[in-house]
Order: sequence, then structure tokens, then C-alpha cells
Amino acid sequence: MCGIVGYIGNQDAKEILLKGLEKLEYRGYDSAGIAVRDNSQVHVFKAKGRIADLRAVVDASVSANTGIGHTRWATHGVPSHDNAHPHQSTAGRFTLVHNGVIENYSILKREYLEGTAFVSETDTEVIVQLIEKFANEGMETEEAFRQTLKLLKGSYALALLDEQNDETIFVAKNKSPLLVGTGSDFNVVASDAMAMLQVTDQYVELMDKEMVIVTKNDVTIKTLDGTVVERSPYKAELDASDIEKGTYPHYMLKEIDEQPLVIRKIIQKYQDEQGSLQIDQNILDAVTSSDRVYIIACGTSYHAGLVGKQLLEQMAKIPVEVHVASEFGYNMPLLPEKPLFIFISQSGETADSRAVLVAVKELGHKALTITNVQGSTLSREADYTLLLHAGPEIAVASTKAYTAQIAVLSILAHVAAASKGEAESMNLVKELGIVANAMEVLCDSKEEMDYIAREYLSFTRNAFFIGRGIDYYVGLEGALKLKEISYIQAEGFAGGELKHGTIALIEEGTPVVAIATQENVNLSIRGNVKEVAARGANPCIISMKGLDTDEDRFVIPAVHDLLSPLVSVVPLQLIAYYAALHRDCDVDKPRNLAKSVTVE
Ligand code: G6P
Repeated sequence: MCGIVGYIGNQDAKEILLKGLEKLEYRGYDSAGIAVRDNSQVHVFKAKGRIADLRAVVDASVSANTGIGHTRWATHGVPSHDNAHPHQSTAGRFTLVHNGVIENYSILKREYLEGTAFVSETDTEVIVQLIEKFANEGMETEEAFRQTLKLLKGSYALALLDEQNDETIFVAKNKSPLLVGTGSDFNVVASDAMAMLQVTDQYVELMDKEMVIVTKNDVTIKTLDGTVVERSPYKAELDASDIEKGTYPHYMLKEIDEQPLVIRKIIQKYQDEQGSLQIDQNILDAVTSSDRVYIIACGTSYHAGLVGKQLLEQMAKIPVEVHVASEFGYNMPLLPEKPLFIFISQSGETADSRAVLVAVKELGHKALTITNVQGSTLSREADYTLLLHAGPEIAVASTKAYTAQIAVLSILAHVAAASKGEAESMNLVKELGIVANAMEVLCDSKEEMDYIAREYLSFTRNAFFIGRGIDYYVGLEGALKLKEISYIQAEGFAGGELKHGTIALIEEGTPVVAIATQENVNLSIRGNVKEVAARGANPCIISMKGLDTDEDRFVIPAVHDLLSPLVSVVPLQLIAYYAALHRDCDVDKPRNLAKSVTVE
């Protein structure tokens, strides 16, 4: 969601900015723009649509070594040329890109900018106009910027150009992610390290309410009261090849295929020298001493959390509640004395989850973040972090992060169980190895998945995914994958609940995908399939070897029943992928969605 890049140095800024924005495309956006400063003036180019549309309007003859760029995911105002960033002040002196939401923008407009002519519907334009107002009143740019920041309520990552100062990009951050990358004879600004990996792997983290003066040779971080903050850069542990598609047609397919490898990597990363699984003792103490664990997450990560509840409760005997982050903040349940909060987030930047983290930290509770992104906001602000080691996930529809989250949760549950003296339910290293092998078999079944998608989903208006127990949670994820990328209205349902209302939607030919991997509910889920089939549904049963019958459409290899979501989700991911392809959808960049949702 909204991406920012900036460059100041000796090279062609246009190309570096455009390439950087291309690397941020995965976050989701609907318009884009850049502003570059040549010897005399700032040139702004913007376009609704894709970076390719922006490239088409950039004047190749402009030669500039400084600039800022932006991908916008519309919040205030429709996607359009006028609402696209960068935004300029009325006199054109200041040019700004912004990620986030300024909550008090209409108040600021009323109180400070009476009579100013606005050209966009965005909250952002208020910021750039305020800066110009303060500059017109005689303040130096840095001071005008600081004064403006002090007035803003809400979230922002900002990069600002001043036409009268060709040596500086002014940067600031509050709640929205932003990094400054360093190099020799140049520095860059980026929403995430991936954007600028082409020029540097050295990054400086920025904290909330800091502003940064970025020149070609210096990065000066200051607090809003002007105190200089010293902070050394860190090396972004990203391999440029990790963020390329290679020979794959889509990132999503590549990421689905990476899952066996990711599971093996997780086993390795969480093993000690003797080959035993281990978790940091402080985290274990926090988990085992809590009287209830609260898992907080959004989207796919929430679905992984539901499976995590089963793992923690059944293996470690710790009671767990799972909550959607955007609801929890406003609807906090009565908490016990020693709750532990576990935040699950691929990106580590999701604003809804972060709002809960801030709230529970204020209440003095401990928090653990399980994330794919080291150094992300949710990781930095929690007491503890467990990393997914899944490598960058670029496709908007999450696949390998989901299975990595479940695998890490299984390790946490397993080690917590051992430390509590609970009987060992399985040899987890061995069982995760079996899972990785099973995933490989499924990744090799693409032709069959393509066929199933064609048979059941390519021409349907809606679809249902049913299961019981842990299979129900996988069904929720299967339905989410399908709707995210193919725009088929898909719902995941508890097998037994469908008949209490929703069965009214079953018509002749309605696809119902049933997941059957659990022995204790095998007969009942099959009963639910009969109920929908009797009303004309077209059932597609995906079962696990050992529980399968002749009526099943696809049988997955047998794995430990608690780990079955790691395997049963793979056919659902692939079916969604092929259904989206058959319907000519943009698999990696589905409409309206953002990968990293940095607004509440
Ligand atoms: C967005 C994405 C989803 C993702 C959710 C949570 O809505 O489109 O795919 O599951 O955010 O993201 P997180 O990074 O916190 O896991």
C-alpha cells in the first residue's frame, strides 16, 4: 500500500526512481508519480494506472540527479492524475510524496489554509501547502517542515523537495514505514529495502516522529525538537534474486513452489547444534507463564492464527483466543492477569495489528511478533520476534508466509509443550520433513489443479469451501485465496453450519470444495457434502490419504493430522491460481488490494 522512493546522488534519478517503484508494485497501488529536480526546476510526472503508464509520460530528456517517487493506493479521493502524488504547493516551490492518513487534515485546512486553492482531494496536499505557508512567513525549509509535522495527527511517511534547495530531500515518518538507504556519493529513501536493493543494501531505520535531512553525502536524523540522533545502518539480508520471478509467469506460482524449501529452512533455523528444536528462553517463559494467549492478525495471517490456536492448545495445553486486529482494538475482551499477545504478520507493517500492539503495550502486556520481515514495525515494537525465514513474498495473495506462519507456530507449540513437561505429541522435525515432501508432491500436481480449477471454478459466480475443525480454517483460507485473485465470491464455512442458513444459496452446479483430513470428523463432513449435493451442488472433496473414498476428487499425501493445513492448503492455493488465470485476472496484483496495508 503506497510506496515511497527517493534518490539524491550523481546518477539518473528518473530511472532509479522508476525501477524502485516497480519493486514496490507488489504492495498494491492505483496511480504513481515521480518528481525530479534538474539544474533549475522540479519536474513532476504522474499517471493513473501502472508504472508502465507513468514511464510513458516521463520526459526522457529531463536530466536530474535528485528526485522522489510514489505509488498511491487511494484512500482520500479516487485514483486519478490529480490525486496521484507528488503534490505541489500553490507556488510550486515544494513537492511532496506521502504514505499514510492525516486524520486532522480538514481541521488544518480550515484553521491554516483558508483561501488556498487545492487541486486534489487528498489529505496530503494540506501538508505541502502548510510547509509553503510557513516558508512564506519566513521560516527556513527545515523549520517549516518541522512546524508542519508538529501539527499533523495520523500516520505519515514523507519525502519533500524544495525547488530552492537542490541538495536536500527532507524526510519524516510517523507510524508508516520508511527507511533511508546509504551509499557512497548518494543516499536513497524507500518504504522498504527491496525498492532500492538495486543501489544499496545498507539501510538506516527511522523511528516515529523523526525527521531526516538527506543529502548526497549525509543523513542527519533529528527528533521534532531538533535533537540529532546517531544511528548506524544495518545490512538488508535480502538477495536481489529473491525478488525476481525468474522463469515463473507469476510470483504467486513461484512462492507456492517455494513452500517445501521454506519448511525445510524453518526446521534448520529453529534447530540447535544437536538437531533439537529450540525457541529463545525469554519467549518460552512468556508463553508458558501466560494464563491466556491472544493471537492478533489480519487476512491470511489471521487464518494461520486459527490453526496456531489448535497447535498451542492441543500440544502445549495453553488456552488461546484468536482475534481480527481491526475488531480487537475497539472490542477488547476482559483480559486475564497475564495475557501474552502474539501478533502474526507477514509484512510486520499492518496498521490494524499495530494499533492493537500499541494499545496492549500501553496496558503493560508482553507481545511477541511472528513476521517475515526483520526490523519491521511490529517486530521492533514487540518484546520478542520469531522470524518466518520465508524470503520476500511479493504476490499480494499470501501463500508461503501462511505455511511458514503455521510451521513456526507448530515449533513454538512443540517447544512450549516440552518446557511445560507435556507428553510429546510427535517428532516434529520428522513430521515437518514429511510435510515438506508432501508439499513437493502437490506442487508437482499443477496440471491436475489446473484441470480442477477449470472443471469447478472457471465459470462460476460463487463457491463454498467447507470443513470441520482445522479443515474449516483451511477452508477459510482457500476461499480467501480464490476471492482475492479470481474475484469469485467464495465463502469458507464450518461444514455443520452451512445448513443453518447459507445452504439457501446452493443452486444447481454451485461448487462446494470440502476438505477432509481429520479422522474424527470424516464421516460428518461427508454427511455435509451429501446435504449440499442433494440440493444440486457440485462437490469437490479434497481428502487425505487413509481417509479417502472413491467419491473424492483429489487425495493429498498423509501427514500428521495437526499439520494437515500445511499440506491441504497447497491444492487450494493452486486451484485459486489457475481459476484466476482462466478468468484472465492479474494474479500477482489483484484489483483493490494492497500487500502491505499501512492504514487502519
Ligand atoms: C492485506 C493483504 C493480505 C494479508 C493481510 C495481512 O490485506 O492483502 O494478503 O493477509 O494484509 O497482512 P500481514 O502482512 O499483516 O500478514
